[in-house]
Amino acid sequence: MADTATSAPPAGWRRLRLIVWTLAAVAALLLAWLVLRPAPQPGQLQSTPTSVTLGGPFTLTGADGRPFSSAQLTGKPYAIFFGFTHCPDVCPTTLARLASLRQRLGQGDDAVRILFVTVDPERDTPEAVGKYAKLFNTPIIGLTGSRAQVDQVARQHAIYQAKVPEAEAPDGYTMDHGATVLLFDRAGKFVATIAPEEGDPAALDKLKRITA
Ligand code: NI
Repeated sequence: MADTATSAPPAGWRRLRLIVWTLAAVAALLLAWLVLRPAPQPGQLQSTPTSVTLGGPFTLTGADGRPFSSAQLTGKPYAIFFGFTHCPDVCPTTLARLASLRQRLGQGDDAVRILFVTVDPERDTPEAVGKYAKLFNTPIIGLTGSRAQVDQVARQHAIYQAKVPEAEAPDGYTMDHGATVLLFDRAGKFVATIAPEEGDPAALDKLKRITA
């Protein structure tokens, strides 16, 4: 009787060896990817592959009820923030912070324009965004538009926004929205973001960069 142990390995064993080697190769590739992939930069929007995709031409409605075109922004750096006038904390906090940062920059109210775009155009009429923008005692450009226009501008800036039913809220809903501020230079080119959790010195440095 032939001794199978000394001849070629059985087909099942060879298949197992192939599987083990394949798994080892996959693990090695995964490890190489983990080690070699570029580390994300702080303040960089990680959901967007390149900064080139942020911003772009848009038309909204100003507090005076007239169309507001992004073409009106060229020549001056600006900070753009999305929110809604019924927002209890994030929006007023962020706008007050931007106003204070601009003051600390010491180049006047004209150095960086602050844009507030509502993600709640159903409630935030031109008059409502205008009144809200005035609460901060510094020039803030309040903008609204049709639902489609607002959706487009939020998408262009990679800002998440969604209507959320909430029984206790006025009109039975609230808005979820991204709280990142995006900064553009005088040529309308995206430069950096300011995250809510980011410290003031870093945020101020970024404002200096767009006004340089
Ligand atoms: Ni808000």
